[in-house]
Amino acid sequence: MPELNLVLLGPPGSGKGTQGERLNEDLRLPYYATGDILRAAVRDQTELGRTAKGFMDSGDLVPDEVIVGVIAERIDSSEALDGFILDGFPRTTPQAEALDAKLEELGRSVGAVLLIDVDDGEVIRRLGGRRTCAEGGHVFHVDFNPPERDGVCDIDGSELIVRDDDKPEVIRKRLDTYHDKTEPLIDYYDQRSVLRRIQGDAPPDEVAEEIRRTLATMRLEQDEAV
Ligand code: AP5
Repeated sequence: MPELNLVLLGPPGSGKGTQGERLNEDLRLPYYATGDILRAAVRDQTELGRTAKGFMDSGDLVPDEVIVGVIAERIDSSEALDGFILDGFPRTTPQAEALDAKLEELGRSVGAVLLIDVDDGEVIRRLGGRRTCAEGGHVFHVDFNPPERDGVCDIDGSELIVRDDDKPEVIRKRLDTYHDKTEPLIDYYDQRSVLRRIQGDAPPDEVAEEIRRTLATMRLEQDEAV
């Protein structure tokens, strides 16, 4: 199978993490979620975490120069030779340009960008009810995807918490940041013919199925082009 360099794009709460975990299992490719990487750094009180915390808590993006190096190092590693899944990166035009430059240096390119499309009202409903596993970052929702036992992760038994940036005022700010800084990437990738739109307001299994169909179609198109 040819290498698959995949980007998950979409507003906060669109389901990138939910679908990213499934893709990670299906495709067996390394999964790099910048939000998870940064939250782990905050928890471990590393220099990266200390730099990122204030930006994250207020719903702002961490500076491009901080995050670009983190991802460049991962996609240049031996585990990512067959491809990778990026969730939450790139999030600005300079980050997308830096990703293209790094991949070009490696003789590679972005294969597909899956835009998980949901409107702002749905984002607010989802993030307001999200519960996240304190240890492994596994994601639940009090109504749409409840854990079997209240407050306990089904997967590793850890406590489920409300993320600091899931407070209503921070959710609004994150949405504004998305519209302002990240939405321009839809055009950026559309112009490069790698954008695939996924309807994100269906139940998680249906979204996953649409993603599978989209990737299968893409592979057929690539095979025909060879
Ligand atoms: P990050 O963690 O990436 O946050 P985000 O993009 O805002 O995305 P979320 O994790 O909130 O949502 P998601 O799309 O993964 O949805 P999920 O699957 O959880 O980033 C956090 C912060 O880090 C940023 O604000 C920024 O400060 C910083 N950062 C990260 N990357 C950066 C970068 N590249 N540059 C600069 N700064 C960066 O689903 C949400 C909820 O909905 C869950 O409860 C889930 O169970 C439920 N759900 C999911 N799918 C469905 C469905 N189909 N139907 C119903 N419910 C669903």
